[in-house]
Amino acid sequence: MKTEQDLQELYFPTPKLIEWDNGVRQYSSVRGDTEVLLSYVPPHTNVEPHQHKEVQIGLVVSGELSMTVGDVTRKMTALESAYIAPPNVPHGARNETDQEVIAIDIKRLKAGETYTSPEDYFLNIFKTRDLLPGMEVTFFVEDWVEIMLANIPGNGGEMPFHKHRNEQIGICIGGGYDMTIEGCKVDMTFGTAYFCDPREDHGAINRFEKDSKSVNIFFPPRYNRAKAKKLEAKES
Ligand SMILES: [Fe+2]
Ligand SMILES: [Fe+2]
Repeated sequence: MKTEQDLQELYFPTPKLIEWDNGVRQYSSVRGDTEVLLSYVPPHTNVEPHQHKEVQIGLVVSGELSMTVGDVTRKMTALESAYIAPPNVPHGARNETDQEVIAIDIKRLKAGETYTSPEDYFLNIFKTRDLLPGMEVTFFVEDWVEIMLANIPGNGGEMPFHKHRNEQIGICIGGGYDMTIEGCKVDMTFGTAYFCDPREDHGAINRFEKDSKSVNIFFPPRYNRAKAKKLEAKES
């Protein structure tokens, strides 16, 4: 029988700190086939190109990062674009500025998933809209994944309890809110990651005055499924 603490560790794993020789610090949270990394890249620091069998996706939370995937290099600023490095495609980054960069990187390798990417590896904003009254969300979409940036308004802004067939993973990147998965409640603060498997019940409420911000990721896409459907049709 799982204790309350085991469940909390499953849905909201305690991050492990990884410290690299070049000064980069990463907080790693893992559930199953997916690792969420919150990375702090010091000014004028290079992350050497490397490759691995996992797909890697990411975006910048603050600062400006010069990101290279394959032979494409792009300047990434906070929350304006995302990258996808498909399995075995080399990728690296360079912080050429005087400011520390904070970024989120997600590594995943799950049987049955096909990790497509745009030809130039970078995703631009697909759409911005109100998901619920006052809750503005911004989407980045690829066939197998959807990234949703969400603002949860202060003073009781709420994502009511629900469940779905999509796996959902996220991270708090501003302010704070209460998040509950399968009855297990945690105070989300900057950098807290959550992992919600298909059909697990979840919801969030922001009891603070300040709006909160989160990055939420769906496998496969939940709100913008047109591209995913096209792929399924092609395969069947
Ligand atoms: Fe990587
Ligand atoms: Fe959800």
